Order: sequence, then structure tokens, then C-alpha cells
Amino acid sequence: MNRFTAFFIILFFSSCTGNILYKKYSQIPGGKIYLAKCGACHQIRNIEKYSFDTWKKKIQEHEKRIQLNTEEREMITLLNQKVKMN
Ligand code: HEC
Repeated sequence: MNRFTAFFIILFFSSCTGNILYKKYSQIPGGKIYLAKCGACHQIRNIEKYSFDTWKKKIQEHEKRIQLNTEEREMITLLNQKVKMN
């Protein structure tokens, strides 16, 4: 395998991870809000990597950067528990 082939294989798999997360979250209630609100500046984060408390803090920190209404904040916060149940 030459370097180019390896490069494209890695590229292919890394782009897939994002798609898997995207698909997963779009099927959970509230997930679409997360994808719409939280995918604008950086890649969709893997929610499961964050504890519920850390996740809440991250959202609070983000409220300096983005505006969330009460419902959006609730939905995105609770998503942390929902993804862990699936
Ligand atoms: C206005 C741009 C913007 C939007 C919209 C945005 N973020 Fe971020 N986010 C950032 C920046 C800047 C960072 C810090 C740099 C980085 O880690 O990429 C960050 C980092 C993060 C991190 C990693 C922090 C860490 O310490 O591990 C998480 C988690 C995160 N954002 C979640 C969210 C969530 C949830 C939303 C939706 C509510 C969201 N982001 C929407 C700009 C944004």
C-alpha cells in the first residue's frame, strides 16, 4: 500500500465517524436542535465523552458565544442522558 492509498483510507474512515454521529443524533428527540445549533463552528462533538456535569458546564460557557432559548438549552442538555440510554 502506498502512502496515498493509506491517506485516502484514513480520510474515508474519519469522515465516516462524523456521519455516524450525525445519523445517530438526528434520530433522537432534540438531536436535530443540537445538530443545527452546535455544528456551525466546530465538528459535532461526541456527547457521550462528556459527563452530564461537564456537558452542562460546556453549554453554559457557550452561552457567551451563542443564544439558546430555554427549550433549546433543555433539549441539548438532556441529550447527554438520552445518548447514554441508547
Ligand atoms: C459560535 C461558535 C460555536 C458554536 C455555535 C458552538 N460552539 Fe462549541 N466551541 C466553540 C469554540 C470556539 C470552542 C473551543 C475550540 C474547540 O475546542 O474547537 C468550542 C468547544 C466546544 C466543546 C469542547 C470543549 C472541551 O473543553 O472539550 C464542546 C463540548 C462544545 N464546544 C459543545 C458545543 C455545543 C453543545 C454547542 C451547541 C449548544 C456548541 N458547542 C456550539 C464555538 C462554538
